[in-house]
Amino acid sequence: EALEKGGYDHFMLKEIYEQPRSIRDCLRGRIYPQQGKVQLGGIKEYVEKLKNVDRIIIVACGTSWHAGLVGEYLIEEYARVPVEVEYASEFRYRNPIITEKDLVIAISQSGETADTMAAIELAKEKGATIFGICNVVGASIPRITHAGVYTHAGPEIGVASTKAFTAQVTVLTLIAFYIGQKRGAIKQSTLIEYLTQLDEIPTLVEQALKSNDRVKEIAEKFKNSNNCLFLGRGSSFPVALEGALKLKEISYIHAEGYPAAEMKHGPIALIDEDMPVIFIATKHSSYEKVISNIQEVKARGGQVAAIVTQGDTTVKDMADYIIEIPEVNEAFVPLVSTIPLQLLAYHIAVMRGCNVDQPRNLAKSVTVE
Ligand code: G6P
Repeated sequence: EALEKGGYDHFMLKEIYEQPRSIRDCLRGRIYPQQGKVQLGGIKEYVEKLKNVDRIIIVACGTSWHAGLVGEYLIEEYARVPVEVEYASEFRYRNPIITEKDLVIAISQSGETADTMAAIELAKEKGATIFGICNVVGASIPRITHAGVYTHAGPEIGVASTKAFTAQVTVLTLIAFYIGQKRGAIKQSTLIEYLTQLDEIPTLVEQALKSNDRVKEIAEKFKNSNNCLFLGRGSSFPVALEGALKLKEISYIHAEGYPAAEMKHGPIALIDEDMPVIFIATKHSSYEKVISNIQEVKARGGQVAAIVTQGDTTVKDMADYIIEIPEVNEAFVPLVSTIPLQLLAYHIAVMRGCNVDQPRNLAKSVTVE
């Protein structure tokens, strides 16, 4: 087993560090930046469908559902198609409105999750077209969907999903650009620019991994907390949800992710000196708004750690701790900002003596409902 961990203490850490490679593998043969072209062989027969689709429904569970929420931002922004994201377990039991015109995208690392499979069968009965985004090649979901795109992240052993999540987000980015291009929602020159940076993402993720020592220092400060709040806006909201899920899964600290603006409708009541609040505060569309949310937390004595764009001084002056990540286009923030959150959960869990790779009560793949 030590050999399989490749010198890392845990599979989770190994998988976190594999992300520059897994994202690279996921992009391989799919993007041609100079030509401004995205090629997705698995769904190419559905181009006509994609040109005319009125609505996309994403179904998934757990971390894959969080990737779906990031996908909603990406597809709506770059392809201009309305997207709904559903928990497979809710969708399947509530007589949802689905027609032949709909496209359903099921996301699953394992390709075996029972609720996601049942949601697919239901949508299929109603005549929808179903795509799968899966990691495990030849699993059940790729077999029951009409078409799909594999994430190619390689086997994920740690129960807490890390590299599968970033690969799912990468595929969703590709799908958003692909549909956007086919529908003429994205300019060719813009696409060239985006794809050029997407090609650099593995390198930028590698840089983000350099925050490890800094994250470890912050983990030391937060390791004895009973609660933790993760806040972000826009596509950083699902990243906050995922950061909270990682922490609660492996360290057993109660953690919640919230859209930063919703804080005032509840979570703000919890804030005191013992409450760490982690912000995703990169320099993008809602930067100024997030800054006021940070001020609100500081005014109530909360401890703030913020993930910021490299060189940011405004947040640095306000927050107790900052973690810098490389500057990226807004489309790619989730891929980079997730990295320090994975490391934070990992280090806190290790410091608390938890079984990081096999947390209590959790299974890697949930094949029963
Ligand atoms: C379990 C795993 C999670 C995963 C979820 C969905 O809860 O522990 O890591 O996100 O199932 O699994 P799937 O294989 O469908 O992505």
